[in-house]
Amino acid sequence: MTVQGLPMVVPAEELPARVRIYEVGARDGLQNEKATVPTETKAEFIHRLADAGLTTIEATSFVHPKWVPQLADAEELFPRVSELPVALPVLVPNERGLDRALALGADRIAVFASATESFAKANLNRTLDEALAMFEPVVERAKAQNAHVRGYLSMCFGDPWEGPVPVPQVVRVCRALMDMGCDELSLGDTIGVATPGHVQALLLALNEAGVPTHNLGVHFHDTYGQALANTLAALQHGVTTVDASAGGLGGCPFAKSATGNLATEDLVWMLRGLGIDTGVDLDRLIATSVWMADRLGRPSPSRTVRALSHKEQ
Ligand code: HMG
Ligand code: MG
Repeated sequence: MTVQGLPMVVPAEELPARVRIYEVGARDGLQNEKATVPTETKAEFIHRLADAGLTTIEATSFVHPKWVPQLADAEELFPRVSELPVALPVLVPNERGLDRALALGADRIAVFASATESFAKANLNRTLDEALAMFEPVVERAKAQNAHVRGYLSMCFGDPWEGPVPVPQVVRVCRALMDMGCDELSLGDTIGVATPGHVQALLLALNEAGVPTHNLGVHFHDTYGQALANTLAALQHGVTTVDASAGGLGGCPFAKSATGNLATEDLVWMLRGLGIDTGVDLDRLIATSVWMADRLGRPSPSRTVRALSHKEQ
């Protein structure tokens, strides 16, 4: 397959020279599939993503297997990919999850908090503050082992049960995660309701609360088609870490209104046009998403995958 019609490169002013794509397809994508994807296929997916030039690939979650059966094979999967020369973060909700991840040599973990009470309950069976208390020893122990710690924050813009989420409420939980010792935060628009002005307002409020932009990544779901516009708004603010999922896979089993993440291919297309380096081979990445779409039995929702793959989808 050959990629045709690459965008003309026309840089825009005051954007970062390089963006780190934090690939979440193997975790955020596959956790939401009705059918469990075989471990072998997941391992091949991650190998292909690395081969396409992605350097941070979230591999799986060490959560309760009954809560997310799709990722119950974390112990089998992780050793099959751990030798890859890329960063392989994994989700860890509690000390039990941390023990499992550390036993396999994971050196990058992510805890995942919520800006709202409703989602903390649905996703973690805890109040918001109970969830933060659960993460505290996880972050402390992970840091003591020199592991890199990401703190996700879900429902940063809107929540399916509570509606719009006030910016100060989000800032409070971000501050708590930073004070706990997280190295970076990922601001999750779990149900895709953010718009660009809202994104910039939250980033500014976080800066004012002492959280510098270089500690912040963005995690947009594309439910309302806003993910790329929101990403551009974040780049204009100086953000250089953007979460995306190959082929636009994704969602969250505990938030019914969550659909796919920003597709990595769509992101790479825009960044390429802006002259921003990502190190990703778009041709190989599209081939990987087409391959995965075949395995899942449905076409990729990514517009770039559809436009550039010659295969009928
Ligand atoms: P719980 O039922 O309250 O668990 O679940 P518990 O603490 O009461 O423990 C009950 C039993 O589970 C115990 O076993 C534990 O050992 C065991 P027992 O002593 O009864 O035999 N257990 C575990 N076993 C294996 N691994 C573990 C583990 N933890 C406890 N880690 C819990 C609480 C947090 C575990 C559960 O709610 C859970 O696993 N939740 C995960 C939900 C999840 O993965 N959601 C999707 C990821 S978040 C997301 O997608 C959003 C994001 O993409 C950003 C965005 O878009 O917003 C990141
Ligand atoms: Mg997500």
